[in-house]
Parts: sequence; structure tokens; C-alpha cells
Amino acid sequence: MSKKIFSGVQPTGNLHLGNYIGAIKNFVNLQNEPDNSCIYCVVDLHAITVKQNPSELKKNIRETTAAFIASGLDYKKSIIFNQSLVPAHSEGSWILSCVARMGWLNRMTQFKEKAGKDKEKASVGLYIYPILMAADILLYDATHVPVGQDQRQHLELSRDIANKFNLDFNSPNFLVAPEPLIQKNFARIMSLKDGSKKMSKSDPSEFSRINLNDTSDQIITKIKKAKTDNDPLPDNENELSKRLEAQNLLGIYSSLSDQTLKNTISEFSGKNFSAFKEKLANLVVDKISPISSEINKLLKDENFIDKILNDGAEKANEIASKKIKDLKKIIGFK
Ligand code: TYM
Repeated sequence: MSKKIFSGVQPTGNLHLGNYIGAIKNFVNLQNEPDNSCIYCVVDLHAITVKQNPSELKKNIRETTAAFIASGLDYKKSIIFNQSLVPAHSEGSWILSCVARMGWLNRMTQFKEKAGKDKEKASVGLYIYPILMAADILLYDATHVPVGQDQRQHLELSRDIANKFNLDFNSPNFLVAPEPLIQKNFARIMSLKDGSKKMSKSDPSEFSRINLNDTSDQIITKIKKAKTDNDPLPDNENELSKRLEAQNLLGIYSSLSDQTLKNTISEFSGKNFSAFKEKLANLVVDKISPISSEINKLLKDENFIDKILNDGAEKANEIASKKIKDLKKIIGFK
């Protein structure tokens, strides 16, 4: 079945192995399935929900685009653009914020995590961020949205918004409720320092994550220093699920080697961590170093990256501006 794919990544600092395994690697697989049409967005409007330095933001938009291309996204096959170039995202977000309910937003766990203890000081944008995400998806009639586990709740909200809009305006199926595409074993890559915490850009410790632009030496050191326990690796998934760090590292190995977790477990069962870590470090270097050097190469030609984004935005704008026009007609705007 052909799928209409939409997904986005925030241009806020270095992308890491969690972004790659949880999302971007899957973007590439979906792009390479024959009948899919794919749109991948650098969501710069989402980025400004927390304070950004303007020149850093500009650099990060290009870096995220370079990471997309270096990971295997092809601007001839997929539409690649940055969100702020297509005005329908902001416009759609406002209209949908009049459909979404406060009660729905109040349940969003990511807002609670990101706003922390002092919610009063969080931007209003951070609070309504999932509505902008719904607009992103719904403007393109996306049927499937590949994301990591942390975005599942936001996708459910997008579905609720689509269904309520269709019901309120008696326009069945006008907005398409999207299906999340969340990979079974690799949807939540954890910190290398603490297997109970998500790998994240905002973790103060550099040793908690592997960045897509890390050098081979940095990757090797980070894997050497990754937290482990004292036992040999287990021989079944049940035992593994009780050992968070081992589960995370075997999951990374399994995803990057394109083999099932079961096969990875049998490859390493009974071995100690030092032998496994050496293999893991080699694999991560093999997979990530070419991406890292390609990112650096691409970043030398800013005009090339900007052209990809501008051309992509033109194509995205064609689709989104038509949808927003129809949406406004349904609402009763002249
Ligand atoms: P963002 O920029 O935080 O993350 C980009 C993608 O990476 C996934 N991810 C992870 N996956 C596995 N393990 C991890 N440790 C990990 N960390 C991040 C995220 O789940 C995500 O898929 N709101 C979104 C961006 C967005 C979007 C959209 C996504 C805006 N509009 C429309 C889909 C559709 C976000 O902040 O992702």
C-alpha cells in the first residue's frame, strides 16, 4: 500500500544516535519503498518555543538538513524543506488551536517535562507546540508519521484534532487522522550514562549521547565509558529487559546491523561487556563516520543546502496552500 509520509526534526543543536535510529534511519527506509511519497521537514518554528540564538538557529537549520542528506534522504525523491518557509503551518496551527481543547493539551507529558517546575515561565508556544505539529501533518494528508516513542502522545493529539474538526464542520475525512510508525525495539534509545533516561540533546553530559558529527575517537571513547553492569550478556529478551543499559546497547547494535534483537542476543549471549563494546564501537564508527564526514562536506556549500530547502519549500507550499484554502472555505471564511 502506498503511504503518504510526513515527519519533522527540530534544528536545535547536534542530532544524535537516538534521532538517527528512532527516526531518520526509518525516514530513509520509507523513502526507498517504491510507492511512498515522503515529506521531511526541518521544524524551525518548533525550535523557537525555547530561546534560540538567531545565528546558531540558522546554522542548525543547515546542519539538520545536511544530516538528512548525509543519512540517505534524497531531495529528488522526498520533499525536504524548513517549516518557516511555508506560511500555511503557522496559519493552520492557529485554526487548529481553536479546535484543540485545553484539557487535551494539559495531558501532554512532554510539555510537563520540558517546562519543568516553573511552568509559568514556559513560553505559550511550548504549550501549544503539539498543535503546530498537528498542522504540519494534517496539511499534507499524511497517512503515516515515523517518529520515536516520545512523540506518540503528540500523534494521538493530531488524530483527535483531525477527528474533532471533521465532526464539528461536518466534513467527513477532510482531515486525515495519521497512523504513527514507531519501531518496536528501537523507538527509545537511552542515555549511555543512565539506561532509564532518554538519549537527548538537552542532557548536560556529552558522554550520554553519540552525535552524528562525532569523530571516530569520540565514538570509541563514549562507548568505552558507557554504563554497564557486571554480568555477562543474557541469552533471552526477558532477562535483557531487566538490564536497562545492556538492553539499550544491544538495541543500538541490533538496529545498526539491521538484524533482529533476538539474533543480536544470541550473537553475544554469555560474552562480557568488553568484547561486546569493542564490536559495538566498530559498528557505530562504520555507520556514523561516513554520515559525519558527509555532513561536514555538505556544510561547506551553504548555497547547495539553501537551494534544497527553497526548492522543497516551493513544492510543500503548493500542497499546503491548497489544503489551507479548502480548510478556510469549510470554516466559513470568504
Ligand atoms: P525531535 O526533534 O525532538 O526529534 C526528532 C525525532 O527523533 C526522535 N527521537 C528519538 N528516538 C529514539 N530515541 C531517542 N532517544 C530519541 N530522541 C529523539 C523523535 O521521536 C523524533 O521522531 N515534535 C517533534 C518534531 C515534529 C514532528 C512534526 C514530528 C514537528 N512536527 C510532525 C513528526 C511529525 C520533535 O520535537 O522531534
